Amino acid sequence: MKSLIKDLVMREIPSGLIERARQRPFLKPFARQAVGAPPIWLMRQAGRYLPEYREVRAKAGSFLDLCYNPELASEVTIQPIRRFGFDAAILFSDILVVPHALGQTVTFAEGEGPRLDPIRSAMDLARLNELQVGRKFELVFETVRRTRAALPAETALIGFCGAPWTVATYMVGGRGSVDQAEARLMAYQEPEIFSRLIDIISTASVTYLDGQVAAGADAIQIFDSWAGSLPDDEFDRWVVAPTRRIVRELKQRYPALPIIGFPRAAGDKIAHYVRETGVDGVSCDTTFSIRGMAELSSAENVVVQGNLDPLLLVTGGAALEKRVEEILTAVSGRPFIFNLGHGIVPQTPPENVAKLVQLVRRG
Ligand code: CP3
Repeated sequence: MKSLIKDLVMREIPSGLIERARQRPFLKPFARQAVGAPPIWLMRQAGRYLPEYREVRAKAGSFLDLCYNPELASEVTIQPIRRFGFDAAILFSDILVVPHALGQTVTFAEGEGPRLDPIRSAMDLARLNELQVGRKFELVFETVRRTRAALPAETALIGFCGAPWTVATYMVGGRGSVDQAEARLMAYQEPEIFSRLIDIISTASVTYLDGQVAAGADAIQIFDSWAGSLPDDEFDRWVVAPTRRIVRELKQRYPALPIIGFPRAAGDKIAHYVRETGVDGVSCDTTFSIRGMAELSSAENVVVQGNLDPLLLVTGGAALEKRVEEILTAVSGRPFIFNLGHGIVPQTPPENVAKLVQLVRRG
């Protein structure tokens, strides 16, 4: 009995959230309000699989030019809402806007992913400038303001940042990698330098998210795409602790703000992550079992989001239908948001996305 009572996680629902959830169905799971069908949005819902995105992207110049163009970034944020009527739009930007705003060189080579001038020493770190983040961030905040003004009242707007660990893997490695070896090595070999880097990213991320919320974001998601590459103690130090700090500082300013964490591939560390960071929602990756998703929601009293395989959205047909049904059945009655386990891939046929929305809404 004792353990039952101890394990019951209490979450107070702020009154501001209850009000806003009446208007925006995406927020209902956070307010524990009943929904007909679960709310749905998809990671990378604005992107190259949409012809209208490719058109705007072609006239914007580079990918970063698009991120810093409030008019065009707002347009591509809204495109998937117009086409599919998702319950939430996600700000069009990138997690690497934070290192770029800190003064690191960031480029996106066509078809190759991001390239950064890697940070390998205390001297490289000293070149980052926390004071100059303002100007670049201001353009993103303007995108949020414009987008909020243009979205239908019932559509929520999600702001986001990369988690400090994931952003650091790019800042130290200089590019994406399968094992994040450079960042992991720096964390082991130069923990003081690495810790300073994590602190710089965390501080900038709070500024970045604070501005997004002040400009009209209804909720935020913290993307920790590489959370799965760290063993327990390192996971606590570089994933959990900085995320907890970001959540705490944002909640101080916005107590009713729903915060979703996405510790991709964290596996059996996910419940610990939820408990220790204080996130309100957790996005589960494709490899997390749907039974595990339902159990996590009960055990931690947390909103769960996920976790359809993005490749099933490429496949479509009966395989897609079967899996959507399995997910909906597994999480029925829980506070749940339908999403993928990772981002939409460019070869996804838009018709399959339309079909998915229809399946989730059982239309
Ligand atoms: O989800 C959305 O629609 C909102 C916008 C968004 C983008 N990136 C746009 C984007 C979000 C939330 C992100 C997050 C992001 N960016 C993550 C975390 C999520 C994840 O996917 O794991 C990471 C690791 C990045 C870094 C990044 N940005 C990479 C590795 C790449 C190259 C990969 C690729 O698909 O080319 C990007 C570029 C990027 N970010 C694109 C988009 C639409 C494609 C660039 C283009 O249009 O040329």
